[in-house]
Amino acid sequence: MEKSKKLLDKLFTRGQEFLGVDYPILGGAMSWISEAQLVSTISNEGGFGVLAGGNMPIDMFKDEIKKTKDLTDRPFGVNLIGIAPNFRKQLEHILEIEFPYVIFAGGLPPRDAITKVRQTGSKMLCFAPTVGIAKQLIKLGVDALIIEGHEAGGHIGPVSTSVLAEQILPHTSEVPVFVAGGIGSGLLMIHYLMMGASGVQLGTRFAVAEESIAHDNFKQAFIKAASKDAIPTAQFDPRVPVIPVRSIVNEGVQNFTTLQLGLLAQLERGVISRQEASVQLEEFWIGGLRKAVIDGDIKGGSLMAGQSVGIVKEIQSVKEILQDLIDVGIHEADRILGLVDICDD
Ligand SMILES: Cc1cc2nc3c(=O)[nH]c(=O)nc-3n(C[C@H](O)[C@H](O)[C@H](O)COP(=O)(O)O)c2cc1C
Repeated sequence: MEKSKKLLDKLFTRGQEFLGVDYPILGGAMSWISEAQLVSTISNEGGFGVLAGGNMPIDMFKDEIKKTKDLTDRPFGVNLIGIAPNFRKQLEHILEIEFPYVIFAGGLPPRDAITKVRQTGSKMLCFAPTVGIAKQLIKLGVDALIIEGHEAGGHIGPVSTSVLAEQILPHTSEVPVFVAGGIGSGLLMIHYLMMGASGVQLGTRFAVAEESIAHDNFKQAFIKAASKDAIPTAQFDPRVPVIPVRSIVNEGVQNFTTLQLGLLAQLERGVISRQEASVQLEEFWIGGLRKAVIDGDIKGGSLMAGQSVGIVKEIQSVKEILQDLIDVGIHEADRILGLVDICDD
């Protein structure tokens, strides 16, 4: 076990140094869920919490950062969604306070945002859902990548995590790369680390943490769900583009389909623009997630979850989740080192 612990420690080194944490395990930002309590707990327990900017009004956003700072003196990040209406105001505040870790989500960040964040000396992490975007982001000068695959919960990209890992990890040494999507245990964590990842990001498993403010109905729906229940939404017509969202199937998903078909009909009649249709679709998710997370409406609300939801079987504290990731990782490292020993005999 000593050797496997050493191996895990070695594999963690780059991510530990980059994030300034004991475990380079990010609690991925989840709108409505990743607030001061969950984020600070993840950071206090040695991981890296990430506050979800979502579409928070600016005063609430400022307040949430302050609250999190009051609860932890460890590093944590702030996630900003480029397509959110409040993005610019949130960015302005982040620049003003020179917040040390910024995570851009929702497509390529605007060039000026990259330049301004770089000027403050803050570290900038960006999502790469394809190998092409990963290369572009490195050229643009981001400090780290989060490669997030199709298995993840929430808005998702087109490529699976395993394929992204194969395409990106062995060929990217310029910046640390963190892997997200479909990671339910330390088993995949150690294998991605061995492939060259600097750390991992989990969302679904932390949504069910004891310290997550999500309604108990939301947590129980996750515990009951199988991986096959978390499916992505479809796009019916390219005139109304839909960024796929992976969530547990319920009436809310059906309502999204009805909304999409209704907007298409309105578009055909010329009573709505493509832009208006896209805004309405995104607003549907923001409101739907709130309904499920805060109000506990698991029928009509949105149960955004990754395929790893099938691995989540109980409510655990953040400390237990992190410890379990480490223990399973070390156990798997031990098994691999045992295989190496056999080959040496
Ligand atoms: C309920 C939920 C809400 C999410 N909201 C956001 C968000 O606001 N911003 C973001 O960048 N990612 C968001 N994500 C993605 C997570 O940050 C994370 O990358 C993803 O959950 C990792 O995959 P996993 O669910 O398989 O662990 C969300 C995921 C879930 C499950």
